[in-house]
Amino acid sequence: MTDPLLFDIAEVLIASDRLQERVGELARAIDRDYAALRPVLVGVLRGSVYFLVDLSRQLRIPHEIDFMAIAAYGTRHATTGAVRLLKDLEDEVTDRHVLLVEDIIDTGLTASYLVRLLRARRPASLAICTLLDKRTRRIAEDLPIRYVGFEIPDRFVVGYGLDFRQLYRNLPFVGVLREEVFND
Ligand code: IMP
Repeated sequence: MTDPLLFDIAEVLIASDRLQERVGELARAIDRDYAALRPVLVGVLRGSVYFLVDLSRQLRIPHEIDFMAIAAYGTRHATTGAVRLLKDLEDEVTDRHVLLVEDIIDTGLTASYLVRLLRARRPASLAICTLLDKRTRRIAEDLPIRYVGFEIPDRFVVGYGLDFRQLYRNLPFVGVLREEVFND
């Protein structure tokens, strides 16, 4: 059966096998850099879940996972970086090696808020691993981004965890939404 959501996709930007291949490459780099450090992968609900789970499955080193949930104030077009914490981590991260796993960094304001929040807890180290990076849109500077899956142009993308009005997260690829759907 054809997924009805596929009709809303104008273009596939990153195919499923390329995503999985790149996740494997990131996992190998993290294996190397964090061997024996038992890092905590911190995912931000809900977008990063798909990426984080695939990354975790491909890691060979001992590691933990934990989640935070946030709600951004304002709309996508007027991001202020003001964020409300809806769910905190289950475990303490003081003296732990924390890897913040993001689906996408756009302006970077959300990540900047999360970095401030996590740094206040005095982790042994804090770095960011983001699947997608819309670098041309960056406002926040000095983010500790250590791993980037793909740099992408300034287009609104969905799939592999990324949503538009809570749909399309389950698509196995990253794609661009048709204009008509986006402007509806
Ligand atoms: P930032 O604070 O501007 O870096 O963006 C944070 C959030 O905006 C991301 O975590 C996503 O939830 C959302 N976002 C930004 N660009 C896109 C996109 O192209 N597709 C879907 N969500 C996006």
